[in-house]
Amino acid sequence: MTADRVEALIREISAFSPAGARVYDAFRAVPRHLFIPPVGLADARDDSTRVIDRDADPQDWMAAVYSDTVVVTQLDDGATDLRAAAGDYTSSASAPSTVADLLHWLAVEPGHRVLEIGTGTGWTAALLSHLAGQDGAVTSIEVDQAVAEQAGKSLAAAGIAPRLVVGDGAHGHQEGAPYDRVHVTCGVRHVPYAWIAQARPGGVIVLPFRPGSGADHALRLTVTPDATAHGRFPGFASYMLMRSQRKLRPRAARRPEDKHWSATLVDPRTVAYAPAGAGLAISAATGLASVYAHDQDEDGPLCRLWLSDPADPYSWGTVEWRPGENEYEVYQVGDRPLWDDVVDAYFRWVSWGEPGPERFGMTVTADGQRIWLDTPEHAI
Ligand SMILES: C[S@@+](CC[C@H](N)C(=O)[O-])C[C@H]1O[C@@H](n2cnc3c(N)ncnc32)[C@H](O)[C@@H]1O
Repeated sequence: MTADRVEALIREISAFSPAGARVYDAFRAVPRHLFIPPVGLADARDDSTRVIDRDADPQDWMAAVYSDTVVVTQLDDGATDLRAAAGDYTSSASAPSTVADLLHWLAVEPGHRVLEIGTGTGWTAALLSHLAGQDGAVTSIEVDQAVAEQAGKSLAAAGIAPRLVVGDGAHGHQEGAPYDRVHVTCGVRHVPYAWIAQARPGGVIVLPFRPGSGADHALRLTVTPDATAHGRFPGFASYMLMRSQRKLRPRAARRPEDKHWSATLVDPRTVAYAPAGAGLAISAATGLASVYAHDQDEDGPLCRLWLSDPADPYSWGTVEWRPGENEYEVYQVGDRPLWDDVVDAYFRWVSWGEPGPERFGMTVTADGQRIWLDTPEHAI
């Protein structure tokens, strides 16, 4: 029975999520299966990503829907069929525990006006509508027309009617302002100021912050009467980046003299495996992104730290670790010394006593965002 599956899922999540009874009541009132399309990709935590098909195997589909698993519902902005099971994830129903965590930090009360960015399947919009109640109002924005249409159908079939808008959520939706809560369900590198401008003083914005280095974090901002927002990182949340903030793919060097080789004594794994606070510090200090990957070439196994400047496709590099080597090769395209900048930022973080993410925060004004350590006066 569906009710049993919902209860089992709630039991599983509540063992580690901070969410409380109101969020779980919403899970009971708005069953997830009403929003999952017949074909999806279950991205299980044990890496057993598989196609789920309601018609071909209803039991398997239902089991995936009621497990704590992301269900991917679109690949490559719709250009690749889900059954290919390979491509960039561009829309999904987020894992229920992540949804529960974010809703907990958002703390929607009956009567609230809520703005959601990233309608996706519509499940979160339905949960928000339940939490805001009859006197509340939910506006949800989705950038992808086809995804928005499907969400509209699922919501209508469930008898829930938030205001749905198709467009770039970075602009918010002025018609529904002022909002008491802004709930963002796509990853954000730069917090769009429109969300703060359209929120009420005291309003709360919860978003998945993707610093570009290390872990992704949930960010909970509170808006002050001067239309500034301050907040901290209460936990982790990993979401696909907003379309408008996707990073530019690195390009080959324009000229041979733009390629640089050097060596470093710093093991790239020191940075790659650094605790979560280091990623926030490095990203705040450098604005750079990094990804670590295991690889194999004709000389044997290696690990490569990829560095890139999200704003400049001609500025990127790699640092390679190979077993038994005493120094590590640094390759870089462009003139910015990316690895030196990352190493400087990393050791500055070490000199502060290696603070964890709970000691960092962010302030957002009309002029931009800054990450700070302990208090807003200590911007990085
Ligand atoms: C993880 S899914 C959202 C999950 C959704 N809340 C749910 O309950 O299913 C992220 C969604 O954000 C959408 N998105 C990406 N960039 C956006 C933008 N700039 N404005 C609005 N939506 C965006 C994607 O198309 C995708 O559907």
